[in-house]
Amino acid sequence: MQNPHTPPDYRYNLSAHIDTAYPQKPRFFIKTYGCQMNERDSEKMAALLLVMGFEAADSQETADLILYNTCCVRENAEDKIFGHLGRLKHLKADKPALIIAVGGCMSQQSEMAQTLREKHRYVNLIFGTANRHRLPEFLWRVMCGGERVADITEGEELPEITDIPVTTREFSHKAGVNIMYGCDNFCSYCIVPYVRGREKSRPQADILHEAAALANDGVKEIMLLGQNVNSYAYDFPRLLREVNKIDGLERIRFMTSHPKDFSDELVAAMRDLKKVCKSVHLPLQSGSTRILADMNRKYTKEQYIALARKLTAIPDFALTTDIIVGYPSETEADFLDTLDVVRQVRFAGAFTFIYSKRSGTPAAQREDSVPRKVANERFDRLTAELYPIFTEKNLAKVGGVVDVMVDEAASPLVTSVECLGGSHNVTNSSEVGVVKYKGRTDDHTLVHFEAHEGLKAGDIVPVRVTEGKTFYVSGVGLD
Ligand code: SAH
Ligand code: SF4
Ligand code: F3S
Repeated sequence: MQNPHTPPDYRYNLSAHIDTAYPQKPRFFIKTYGCQMNERDSEKMAALLLVMGFEAADSQETADLILYNTCCVRENAEDKIFGHLGRLKHLKADKPALIIAVGGCMSQQSEMAQTLREKHRYVNLIFGTANRHRLPEFLWRVMCGGERVADITEGEELPEITDIPVTTREFSHKAGVNIMYGCDNFCSYCIVPYVRGREKSRPQADILHEAAALANDGVKEIMLLGQNVNSYAYDFPRLLREVNKIDGLERIRFMTSHPKDFSDELVAAMRDLKKVCKSVHLPLQSGSTRILADMNRKYTKEQYIALARKLTAIPDFALTTDIIVGYPSETEADFLDTLDVVRQVRFAGAFTFIYSKRSGTPAAQREDSVPRKVANERFDRLTAELYPIFTEKNLAKVGGVVDVMVDEAASPLVTSVECLGGSHNVTNSSEVGVVKYKGRTDDHTLVHFEAHEGLKAGDIVPVRVTEGKTFYVSGVGLD
């Protein structure tokens, strides 16, 4: 098997081929589905493509290579990807030289890779999460050898680490840094351990090296990434203390935390370390101890609430979560436990999901599924409980001043802003020299604000909050 620690092989240099086959540099477009893990993987694959002689395209339509980095955590993620792939088929009919590649978690499933191979003949390259570092080799075979490649390192144990340390990133001011790969928790509903392999932590020195290189390159905010960062093998609180010392970094976040491994030492580190943001995403999944046990989550309703209390005792702290409704056998009483936790903890934000059966997971064997109608109804009751809490929390910020890190300036025209729960339009102010921006507070509240022209992504500015909505606040820059 391929040595997991083998770096990407740059011998597959396409320059001779590119010089003869393309009048200009060929352009790539990567579309990323799923979580931050996939976003970081896409940045790493973009770095490989740049080394190979590609350049970035502005859109799918102008690209010579379209790469979909896929997710399979829920069925609707896969449906969406297939919908989008269908459109690429037409694009390819007009432009036969177009190369279409599908990688990531969805294609890592062997049945899915087979479906893509057999039923989606217009896809030139199918690969997975485990062998993404072999992208140069695969593309070389497609482009120079005229092959159609489908390789997901099937039948072999997924390599432990396929690390490509790069500073290439989507945003100039913020970046993710993997601290671990894979997951060993095997929550009964979840496909991730099967498509991402066993949990493996990166050495602290490698992480610090990458974070320092990013800070040196202008990054202000680092997100430490792992499916369960609290089980980082080499002492997560100590890692936070070390990252906190890196010059140039202003904010440190991490994602995702598992309640079963959240130590008191970590709570203390969050409280004491200045650059560590006062917000945690702590998936609850269910408020019912019985369902939690069935999900293999290894904590009870009471343990979750106790941990949430410790965290929210930190001043200006915000807790967000993930909740699943309609898990097999979930009763009305189980669901009421979930609502009870929501009322007691008062989350600042939440991603809510209807249980989706994932083949190959233990929960998929069960026959006591919750009828769709009941699951839909619970979903609506859950959001009806959550959303007014979000609004109240945002209204409580009105009149106060918050420090906002600028994510982007809105364009001068009407801009559609995507946020949790939908999109809305923001129009620019007619006042000369005043621009609309959006950014985040330390506790991760989304802020739309007006301020003078010239602020850059990564700048931190004081903003007076004037309005509180369900998914964001609005305000005016004070600088
Ligand atoms: N590692 C993280 C999150 C991984 S997936 C964690 O442990 O929390 C992100 C979220 O998707 C999960 O928190 C869960 O709420 C949701 N999810 C995962 N599998 C799902 C499924 N089969 N159906 C519905 N939601 C699911
Ligand atoms: Fe999935 Fe559970 Fe691992 Fe999160 S901790 S990725 S929900 S198995
Ligand atoms: Fe999806 Fe894979 Fe992330 S399944 S949620 S992209 S780890």
